Amino acid sequence: MIVRRWVTRPLKSRMRAGMEWFDDRTGITELLHKGLYEAVPKKGGWAYALGSATLALILLQLFSGIFLLLDYVPSVTDAFNSLDYLRSGDAFGAWVRGLHLWGSYILIFVIGLHMLRTFLSASYKRPRELNWVTGALLFFLVLGLAITGAMLPWDQAAYWTTVVVTNIPHYLPLIGDGIRTLWRGGDFVGPITLTRTFAIHVWVLPFLMFSLIGAHLYLLRRHGEFGAWINYDTDPGEDEEKQIGERIRRAEPPYPTKRISRRYAAPRETVPFFPNQLFKDVVLSTLLIAVIFIMGLISGAPLDAASNPATLSYVPTPEWFFLPLDQFLVVAPTNPLIAIGVFGIIGLGAALMVLLPFIDRSPERRPLRRPEVIVPALFMAFTVIFFAVLGINRLYNL
Ligand code: HEM
Repeated sequence: MIVRRWVTRPLKSRMRAGMEWFDDRTGITELLHKGLYEAVPKKGGWAYALGSATLALILLQLFSGIFLLLDYVPSVTDAFNSLDYLRSGDAFGAWVRGLHLWGSYILIFVIGLHMLRTFLSASYKRPRELNWVTGALLFFLVLGLAITGAMLPWDQAAYWTTVVVTNIPHYLPLIGDGIRTLWRGGDFVGPITLTRTFAIHVWVLPFLMFSLIGAHLYLLRRHGEFGAWINYDTDPGEDEEKQIGERIRRAEPPYPTKRISRRYAAPRETVPFFPNQLFKDVVLSTLLIAVIFIMGLISGAPLDAASNPATLSYVPTPEWFFLPLDQFLVVAPTNPLIAIGVFGIIGLGAALMVLLPFIDRSPERRPLRRPEVIVPALFMAFTVIFFAVLGINRLYNL
């Protein structure tokens, strides 16, 4: 009876009833409404598009990665051949490899910019400490994905990169050699090293990454977008203090932000996420994806000669984003104590970066009024650039 009544109804009404049923069971309209009409600070919206661009590029990596998996064979005898076939025997293979490589380059660049902007605007401060911590861990995961990806082609470059990178844990006191042996599957790089690196690249790191992205985005919704100091009354006088009170009373969700000083609880002006911010997010992500498609097509991805563990003269050239670290490794002398010291400094720098919100506790958000963090950050940036330049000089004899 119910079925007959359903079938005899006009198509439009059947579709409406179907949609109502789906909405009732899933709550999708409410979810979309909550997601799309939330308030975001009005000023500086293009800079706030870097986070969603990072997300878009990660999804593109997942997409191109799945296509690569249709052909790639993670074994020391076939990995190189499978990519060689993609390069020369498949109509789109070289392009898909180019997409994955250029996608990773631009992702690292964009995630770096997103980090820089949240650092300069002090978005990491109370109550958004964990937005930063999850973000910083994501940054390291992205670097981890990039380096494990570079080991997979099993050509000369990949093989020798694997030898150098799997040796890095050796510098960790006590547990280092154990980790190296576990990763390599023995004392030397071999078939098990590739199988394990492949598993890390396609399962372990992406699983951690998508879990952390979930946490990062949840925290963003919980505390709202801080934006930047330009949206707030940074030194409110008496009149502005009254206006702030009024603003807090009338704030649209997710404002006022809790556990933050009153002046930063609600931006002076907000716009709904849709269409204002979403438009900027879509434009930036589309532009970047277009650049990746073009670069992937024009320049593809390199493939060296097949790996040859017997060569003695091969000098592995690291990916550009690992140049500073590679140069540190070269400079770290053979004296194990000094080498451990160099790694200690790198580890300390990384830990300070992750824990930044718990170190910098002042409520000040303007970059020029925060020399105590801006100056050490500049020093770190110069050190990294300095080592990159040394590395370029060494490798390319400039
Ligand atoms: C997989 C990597 C990442 C994704 C997908 C991601 C995504 C996002 C998105 C969509 C936003 C909101 C829009 C925006 O402010 O740009 C955001 C905000 C934020 N992100 Fe990330 N992010 C990532 C990595 C990072 C990193 C590496 C850091 C810093 C170490 C970071 C720290 C923050 C902070 C502090 C906010 C809050 C910004 C504010 O409220 O003003 N994120 N992220």
